[in-house]
Amino acid sequence: MVYSPLSDAVMQAYNTVFETPDSGLLATYIPKLATVDPNQLGVALTAVDGSQMTAGDSDKLFSIQSISKVLLLCFAYRQLDAKTWERVGVEPSGTAFNSLLQLESDAGIPRNPFINAGALVVCDLVLSLYPHADAQLLAFIQWLADDDTITYSPEIATSEKQVGHRNKALCYFLKSLGNLHNDPEVVLDFYFNLCSIEMSCNTLSRTFLFLANGGQHPTDNKQILTTSQAKRINAVMQTCGFYDESGEFAFRVGLPGKSGVGGGIVAVYPKRYAVAVWSPRLNEKGNSYRGMRFLETLTSLTGQSVF
Ligand code: DON
Repeated sequence: MVYSPLSDAVMQAYNTVFETPDSGLLATYIPKLATVDPNQLGVALTAVDGSQMTAGDSDKLFSIQSISKVLLLCFAYRQLDAKTWERVGVEPSGTAFNSLLQLESDAGIPRNPFINAGALVVCDLVLSLYPHADAQLLAFIQWLADDDTITYSPEIATSEKQVGHRNKALCYFLKSLGNLHNDPEVVLDFYFNLCSIEMSCNTLSRTFLFLANGGQHPTDNKQILTTSQAKRINAVMQTCGFYDESGEFAFRVGLPGKSGVGGGIVAVYPKRYAVAVWSPRLNEKGNSYRGMRFLETLTSLTGQSVF
């Protein structure tokens, strides 16, 4: 087998997926997400040397949704280090992202920071650490991306809040189990804002590049996380980034990654690159149908993955 160089592989994988029928369905449970043109496809890969390869709708803004949970976790982790794991675990849940099932028997400690229960606990940690958590988290993300235009979308946050009954149930359940220190309504507003962040594939791949770069900011060289912390974030993405499809993603793609119901996926190849793909139609597990296929094709064409 002769493997393709990275830039050829990005184009070839994009073209293959573009030409294949898209059998996914748009997320409609958040009314605002149901209004997105479902046929878009964008990809962007940023290498640790700063070079970028893009195709399709790579500069269109989309709702990154749960992908932001990784950035939230990094924001808490760089302050709290090992204390983070006293309130949230690092085990795959094997359940859907919004499941309530395990919390009671697990004494209110969510299995991992990427299921909604876990992200709500990390929101609570951040709210206790930072007096202006909304603004300070956004500034952190803008710094990671080298882009001060990144914002929350009030329309998406409001739209999700109107239908967020399950998240409200999770949040109040966490409070009753003693694993939430702030007012549940304040935690929920922060969580809905977090999920509403908009980015393009170009920006998303740049934002996650520090996780391919040993925790170091790729342009100003400051250490965002230690090398060991960056390894651990990648490990949690690898095992928990796709909920009850995390095994399938590792099996097919072989890179740590994180998905969102807006149709975005970001994946990290340590020491090499971060790659973002966006296509809004989702498979039955809530992950972008064409996004999964693009990444699987990319790592198959290059013959390179973490395994
Ligand atoms: O909590 C929710 O329902 C959404 N704001 C986030 C869901 C999400 O992106 C799950 N990931 N695939």
